[in-house]
Amino acid sequence: MIPPDPPPRLEPLFTAEQIAARVRELGDEISAAYEGGDLVAVCVLQGAIVFFADLIRALPTAVQCAFLQASSYGRGTESSGEVAITRDVKVDLRGRHVLIVEDIVDTGHTAKAILEAVMTREAASISICSLLDKKERREVPVAVRWVGFEIPDRFVVGYGLDLDGRYRGLPGVWVVPA
Ligand code: IMP
Ligand code: MG
Repeated sequence: MIPPDPPPRLEPLFTAEQIAARVRELGDEISAAYEGGDLVAVCVLQGAIVFFADLIRALPTAVQCAFLQASSYGRGTESSGEVAITRDVKVDLRGRHVLIVEDIVDTGHTAKAILEAVMTREAASISICSLLDKKERREVPVAVRWVGFEIPDRFVVGYGLDLDGRYRGLPGVWVVPA
């Protein structure tokens, strides 16, 4: 059986309750912003899966869900600047409002590459919502319209975020000590 507690060396950053409260706020703000509009929510695989699952339940039920995967050729706690879209959105985005749902924006390379890919699809609008934002690490400017929490330059896991594929199922967000 998988132990329910996080491994001992992780330090808590946000509890599941804090995240749930923030997700409700984001859901309200996003719902108000797109009131009556034709919205497609795009989950950026794989890190955003948990956030996405909670966020769409805080949005109007008519929101269409779509998925996209980007790989930044990184391992462990270092990401590289080279980003590939390894799975593109399969629904028609033309003339529609697109909300890209990310787990974390760090250097900004991934978000920028995703924006550029989606921009070729003639959407009516494109906005990014990211659970976490490591603003001080930014290498390329990218507009993140909705941010759950700004965090310092620390590597975090849980609530979908991984370290080599592990810890995505932790209910809260935890810091991996350097
Ligand atoms: P970027 O540096 O903004 O391109 O971020 C690339 C990707 O690195 C993100 O989408 C995450 O998947 C991953 N990443 C960045 N920081 C963290 C972290 O603290 N924990 C887990 N994944 C991270
Ligand atoms: Mg990742």
